[in-house]
Amino acid sequence: DEERLHQRFESTVEHDQRVEPRDWMPEGYRKTLVRQIAQHAHSEIIGMQPEGNWLTRAPSLRRKAILLAKVQDEAGHGLYLYSAAETLGVERSDLTEKLVARRQKYSSIFNYPALTFADIGVIGWLVDGAAIVNQVPLCRCSYGPYARAMIRICKEESFHQRQGYELLLTMMHGSEQQRRDVQDAVDRWWWPSLMMFGPPDGDSPNTQQSMAWGIKRHTNDQLRQKFVDMTVPQAEVLGVTLPDSGLSYNAEREHYEFSEPDWEEFHRVLAGEGPCNTQRVERRRAAHEGGSWVREAAAAHAAKQAERGRA
Ligand code: ACO
Repeated sequence: DEERLHQRFESTVEHDQRVEPRDWMPEGYRKTLVRQIAQHAHSEIIGMQPEGNWLTRAPSLRRKAILLAKVQDEAGHGLYLYSAAETLGVERSDLTEKLVARRQKYSSIFNYPALTFADIGVIGWLVDGAAIVNQVPLCRCSYGPYARAMIRICKEESFHQRQGYELLLTMMHGSEQQRRDVQDAVDRWWWPSLMMFGPPDGDSPNTQQSMAWGIKRHTNDQLRQKFVDMTVPQAEVLGVTLPDSGLSYNAEREHYEFSEPDWEEFHRVLAGEGPCNTQRVERRRAAHEGGSWVREAAAAHAAKQAERGRA
């Protein structure tokens, strides 16, 4: 009965074992996972846009090949994640409909434009760096299909982060203009990167329950701090200045102190008023609608094959 199933679920989570699709789970757990995994998948797919925009303008064949590989990886991540969500009884087509109708979210970070090629480096360094800090603990998420998808995704994210850092190191050894472009991109992406981790713990309605269920392993503020601690020394090696006069090392806490991000800006972006929200969603919608003939053709082909199988 329901009581026994509930106990078994609690014990699985408590003993750090994995919940699998066939297992009983509380409705709230299922809903939370669908929300988070769908939002994560949408982020990967929408996240192809700011970088995809530079594929035809990459400055060399090598940079183009790297960027192409990276953008294709993001598509793959989106597809694994939609598959993980489907194990919870939802359909990818339905999730996509919700995304283009703006009924489901995707990460705030992808509503900012990539203005120069230095942005490609900074997205790899900061945005993918933040994604790694946020996502490595998800490899230990209590829901098996999500945790397993995250293992491969994290390996690929670490390649993304390194290609970004390597591009920035190269640009910082280049011309005065290149160094200026890098600094300008860092100035624009730093605060939005900190916002990727979500609202401060005191304003995060989901964290407590998600941690109790073993979906999240750390709070938003813990991960934000970890990201800052990791990134400040990398900025020093690069020779760029992070745009926060409040940054300083606290030897007692063994952490960097930093200023509060502009949470009003964060809420505006979530409400659809970031610099690129409309463009991102409209482009996704157009791609989805433009691809309908492919889906129809695939369905017709599958039906024909099934018919032949029966004959
Ligand atoms: N962008 C957009 N929405 C956000 C963001 C963000 N950066 N941070 C928080 N939110 C939303 C939450 O989804 C939630 O809204 P909802 O209840 O309507 O879904 C609301 O703000 C309150 O936030 P929290 O209570 O802190 O929500 P949650 O516990 O889900 O934590 C977090 C947010 C940390 C983003 C979590 O969902 C997560 O780890 N997701 C998986 C990682 C991910 O989605 N990464 C995408 C970007 S990285 C990349 O793709 C390269």
